[in-house]
Amino acid sequence: MARKITLTNARRAELLAASRAARQNAYAPYSNYKVGAALLADSGRIYAGANFENAAYGAGTCAERVALGAALAAGERKFIAVCVCGADNTISPCGICRQALCEFGDMTVLCAGAEDSGPGSAVREFKLSELLPESFGPAQLV
Ligand code: THU
Repeated sequence: MARKITLTNARRAELLAASRAARQNAYAPYSNYKVGAALLADSGRIYAGANFENAAYGAGTCAERVALGAALAAGERKFIAVCVCGADNTISPCGICRQALCEFGDMTVLCAGAEDSGPGSAVREFKLSELLPESFGPAQLV
């Protein structure tokens, strides 16, 4: 049986680095708010994403759901943690992303600023169930 993946500080650091790297590739010419995200799957693999915007505004997608799509397409179905990186550590996943992620486990959510964000660079840590209490999920549909 595969070994259980836990969120060690080394993995926190990897997620932070992956989300910051992905943020560099964000396509956000309209809001100028670049976001990177990195998901740690229970396989131990990390999947990154960045937000992309569109001239037809509603066609854009958040970084978290880009990372989620990449992970799901690779066959992952359960996640241990997600790190989301914005300009500073006040970033927090939007409501749609909270719902999208909550389908796949009560993961840890790390909210981080970009490397150059100075005092706002402490990583804030939550459980997804804190950010989305009383959620509606797969358990309601069985
Ligand atoms: N955005 C994300 O990618 N993730 C979040 O957690 C918050 C918001 C994006 C959407 C849009 O491209 C830009 O940030 C401004 O809202």
